[in-house]
Amino acid sequence: MKLKETINHAIQDAFRKAGIDATPISVTEATKPEFGDYQFNGAMALAKSLKKNPREIAQTVVEHLDLGGIIAKAEIAGPGFVNLWLNPNQVAASCDNALKDPRIGVAQKADPIKVVVDYSGPNMAKQMHVGHLRSTIIGDTLSNLLDFLGDEVIRQNHIGDWGTQFGMLIAYLEEVGEDGNTSLKDLEQFYKDAKARFDADASFADKAREYVVKIQSGDAHCLTLWKKFIDISLGHCEEVYEKLGVNLTREDVRAESFYNDTLAKVITDLDKAGMLQESDGAQCVFLEGDEIPVIVQKSDGGYLYATTDLAALYYRANVLGAKRISYVVDARQSGHFKQVFRVAKEAGFVPEDVKLEHVAFGTMMDKSGKPFKTRDGGTVKLIDLLDEAVVRAKEAITAKDDYTPEALENLARIVGIGAVKYADLAINRESNYIFDWDKMLSFEGNTSLYMQYAYARIQSIFRKYGKEVSGTIVLTDELEHRLAVTLLRFEDILDKAAEDAAPNQITSYLYDLVTLFMRFYERNPILKEGVDEQTRTSRLLLADLTAKTIKQGLAILGIEVVDKL
Ligand code: ARG
Repeated sequence: MKLKETINHAIQDAFRKAGIDATPISVTEATKPEFGDYQFNGAMALAKSLKKNPREIAQTVVEHLDLGGIIAKAEIAGPGFVNLWLNPNQVAASCDNALKDPRIGVAQKADPIKVVVDYSGPNMAKQMHVGHLRSTIIGDTLSNLLDFLGDEVIRQNHIGDWGTQFGMLIAYLEEVGEDGNTSLKDLEQFYKDAKARFDADASFADKAREYVVKIQSGDAHCLTLWKKFIDISLGHCEEVYEKLGVNLTREDVRAESFYNDTLAKVITDLDKAGMLQESDGAQCVFLEGDEIPVIVQKSDGGYLYATTDLAALYYRANVLGAKRISYVVDARQSGHFKQVFRVAKEAGFVPEDVKLEHVAFGTMMDKSGKPFKTRDGGTVKLIDLLDEAVVRAKEAITAKDDYTPEALENLARIVGIGAVKYADLAINRESNYIFDWDKMLSFEGNTSLYMQYAYARIQSIFRKYGKEVSGTIVLTDELEHRLAVTLLRFEDILDKAAEDAAPNQITSYLYDLVTLFMRFYERNPILKEGVDEQTRTSRLLLADLTAKTIKQGLAILGIEVVDKL
């Protein structure tokens, strides 16, 4: 449910009854249990505009609040804070309702929009690296989240499949002769070998240059080679997607080359908008206040990364009709996106009301704080990294004997991949991220295993209980009350995480929820003899809603749950 909104309305009603116009109201979660569940801290600001004493304003709220609704108790604190306690009956009833709803009480947006999420975007001439891993994981989560909340999500994989390197690469592919599948398994090596050929043999180098021109002019033979190259390369990326369990398919690919035919129009449109300037033979856009111009066409006529992105922005806003376009790309490209977004808006390629955002993320580091590399300084192959995660996860699973070998393999995949994803999503995405196997595969702390373990624990309670649970929730103590209120916060958390494109808000929430649940479970026995039936039912229902919330939360993060760990 939209818990905050409900509380805001209750406060608003109190003001209305007192004849005060006080919109918008915004309550916050209480910082300490002794301050209640929520706090209204707006009295100070209102006092200024109404020229009154803040405590007087707070008093007005307390006097006019309807205490039979969502709020049960309100108290003034300090200079004019209002501490709010939620009504346990209402909280319990809302939890009951959430349990009856397959969406566990999270509404579908009433006003959905089309959102383009640009993520993954590997380069076909190079091995997919850890930066693309981060983009893929964060982008997929953002897409799942917006999709769950009801927006129409259009996933776009802006792969780098165009540029002068491809002349050399396809010339080499032709020379190697075989189907390319084996040699292209290691793109980095393939690139090195091709480059070595290029440097050593002048006639090969000439051919490579000739092939660049030929692909660009649409020569059939070269295009066939190029397509084959891209197809194999993309196939390797898809192996990674498949292992990761992300929802990216060929249909989502809108490669750089997709925009080739519209690049010339980008230049003429910029010219028409009076934004083009020549500098050293290149076509540039100079933005006010920016020292470095955006180069959109080189002196030899070639287009650039920025030109393609301008064409893509036009396509996404006008052909796809997106109202929000989110780029999940390394923070080091923030200068690029700032400029490109500005140019697109100023040139009218993208209407004013379209939200353009760079969902930036930091660099992946190893434990010693250096950029993530193999021992010999090479790029870590993603597929190897993911395979290792599965192997390590198998070691971490304690209930090995309860599984057949195939089932254990599957479990290890869920746990291992889940751990890699969760660790990435759980940090503030803009920070650099330290990749640490031990930390990510720990059962303690803010990890996927901690969540999956709690989920499995609850499933085992239900297995032991062995009966259908029917009845309603009755909150009997402070801890149950807090657990229930936390469960009801789920929708608010998702809404905010979607707005901020911040998956770590979801992981923080899950961590709080599970920690609270574990405490509840320790203190408030469920199946133990002597617990009366009504209390048992209520606690079972709270456990059930906790499990469902963990499951839904993890599903948005692209992580599966298991019944036994
Ligand atoms: N291929 C780019 C890279 O590896 C990422 C593409 C991001 N998307 C975009 N529309 N520019 O850096």
